Amino acid sequence: MQIFIDSADLNEIRDAQAMGVIDGVTTNPSLIAKAGKPLDQILPEICEVVDGPISAEVIATDTAGILKEGRALAKVHPNVVVKVPLIADGLKAVRTFTDEGIRTNVTLCFSLPQAMLAAKAGATYISPFLGRIDDIGGDGMDLIEQIVEVYDNYGLDTQVLAASIRHPLHVVQAAEIGAHVATLPHKVILQLLKHPLTDIGLARFLEDAGVAKS
Ligand code: G3P
Repeated sequence: MQIFIDSADLNEIRDAQAMGVIDGVTTNPSLIAKAGKPLDQILPEICEVVDGPISAEVIATDTAGILKEGRALAKVHPNVVVKVPLIADGLKAVRTFTDEGIRTNVTLCFSLPQAMLAAKAGATYISPFLGRIDDIGGDGMDLIEQIVEVYDNYGLDTQVLAASIRHPLHVVQAAEIGAHVATLPHKVILQLLKHPLTDIGLARFLEDAGVAKS
């Protein structure tokens, strides 16, 4: 499973990149707002740090507007993937982007039928938001499992990108199910890394080596 970082914070992206653990980046308008810089400024900076798919989301909600914004985003760097909301106008734009060779990440997916239509439209990635489903008492991982199974049944090329990940168990389960990608907040990447026995073991080694006090 590929791991993307779900962030527009350059410090977080650089940190994860330096660890060598990320294959790409996803952003969304909320993450861009949090980063405090406009997308057109931050996107080229992210593309300089990570050599992999970088999702940048359109703001327009009509097909013509999505196509205009998406084409401009795709021109920023060959690694840019245009992130499009899962609405009718969005799917129309995805079909055109696909025909033009522009890669897409169809976002805000909350159901299997939505994911099936996104694949039909030619989406490169589908982003089911599993954490937000869990937040309202559903089972987001069930949706990931359904999409992986149905895409597999018909040999669909669209990659399942598990999004809205909240904790390490989401990552482990998404990998077991066979999601192609999981996009993780920086905090979850650090949580995956952590194990108390590693810390205890390291402290003991350092103590025995005489470089740390007990
Ligand atoms: O980037 C899309 C997704 O990962 C958002 O996650 O935590 O805002 O539900 P969240």
